Amino acid sequence: MANTLLIGAQWGDEGKGKVVDFLSQNADIVVRYQGGSNAGHTIEIGAERYVLHLVPSGILYPDKTCVIGNGLVIDPVGLVKEIKELNARGIMTAGRLHVSDRAHVVAPYHKAVDAASENKLAVGAKIGTTQRGIGPTYADKANRTGLRMGDLLDPALKTLLAGRLAQKNELLATLGAAPLEAAKVYAEIHEAALFLTPYITDTVKLLNDAYRAKKEILFEGAQGTMLDIDFGTYPFVTSSNPTSGGACVGTGLPPRSVERVLGVIKAYTTRVGEGPFPTELLDATGEGLRKRGREFGATTGRPRRCGWFDAVVGRYSAMVNGVDYWAITKLDVLDEMETIKVCVAYECDGKRHETVPASISILERCKPIYKEFPGWMSPTSQIKRYEDLPVKAKEYVKALCDITGVPLGVLSVSPQRESTFRIAI
Ligand code: IMP
Repeated sequence: MANTLLIGAQWGDEGKGKVVDFLSQNADIVVRYQGGSNAGHTIEIGAERYVLHLVPSGILYPDKTCVIGNGLVIDPVGLVKEIKELNARGIMTAGRLHVSDRAHVVAPYHKAVDAASENKLAVGAKIGTTQRGIGPTYADKANRTGLRMGDLLDPALKTLLAGRLAQKNELLATLGAAPLEAAKVYAEIHEAALFLTPYITDTVKLLNDAYRAKKEILFEGAQGTMLDIDFGTYPFVTSSNPTSGGACVGTGLPPRSVERVLGVIKAYTTRVGEGPFPTELLDATGEGLRKRGREFGATTGRPRRCGWFDAVVGRYSAMVNGVDYWAITKLDVLDEMETIKVCVAYECDGKRHETVPASISILERCKPIYKEFPGWMSPTSQIKRYEDLPVKAKEYVKALCDITGVPLGVLSVSPQRESTFRIAI
């Protein structure tokens, strides 16, 4: 397998966990490069269901090396919990999970500031964050006041934390939230640090050594293009770069180490949290997609907003990420639809938009221009070969690829591992 970078092409929740799991079979190393425990990658193997927030999905294969790269923001307490849960289910992590010493630490005060800031925002201005402290931690990183995973091993950790907390408690007071207790914050982080010590290492060197040794590397993106802080629906975005450009910054691997980009895209669209969503369905059809697709956030349990496939987003994502192939997921969710709509362009103030406008106020007013496709009206989730899919289902998939200008690489028709068809990669 070529070194593959896997990105979410919509607003996250495209089914990346499942596709990473599928591709991990052929990789030596699986590395995450951005985000934090705002992600929730779900993988179903037989009767077992795993939801991973920080640990790369490759961990479910016993022989894969997994790396949490420098571009992440890590809640050490959450990571310990995740590792312990995996270990309790027989998935061993020692010696094959590595955590970057350059990744930033999400401390309890980041989560408190995240929640308090959201509470303070007026309705309409709220972002609907996952309240995992992501934005405040990346803000500290950019502000050069962050703590890194390597600092957890520093004997001066207690003093470092106390200094940061004093500032954050002042901020919390202005936001009308209760202060945090220094001793408690230190105790929590110190305990996690002791557990994580053997995992924390220089992953930049580790990854580059592996690259030079011609190991196969799989880059696992979290969230999605439309949540990217530069290319997404700003300010209704996350605070990192889920797009392919983020992979090098978030791992320390050079651009030429990425040999191909696989974009994961659902056969319809969902979004959690606030912000514009041109193809959103606020009716029974949307409700039907939510039910059939089990569209509830893997991290927060919030119901996801559902809508038709947006090819404007698809084309934009393909362009920004340099997508070589699509991995289209959840086709089976459309099995009972008589007619399926695809948004091919937007219309705003009499103007046709073929790509995503930067202006949030324009995007909020964009109306989708739809093309209709006949549904196949038969179950697909038990089908085990691409050739056996109903003709109309194959035509729909082909239309998505043609309209977005990207060939099909992988197609998935159920949450199970064996319902994934390898088409062209
Ligand atoms: P944050 O990343 O928690 O700051 O949240 C910012 C926005 O990104 C909110 O709309 C979240 O719902 C959304 N978001 C963050 N992570 C994910 C994810 O993994 N899947 C889908 N949406 C996400």
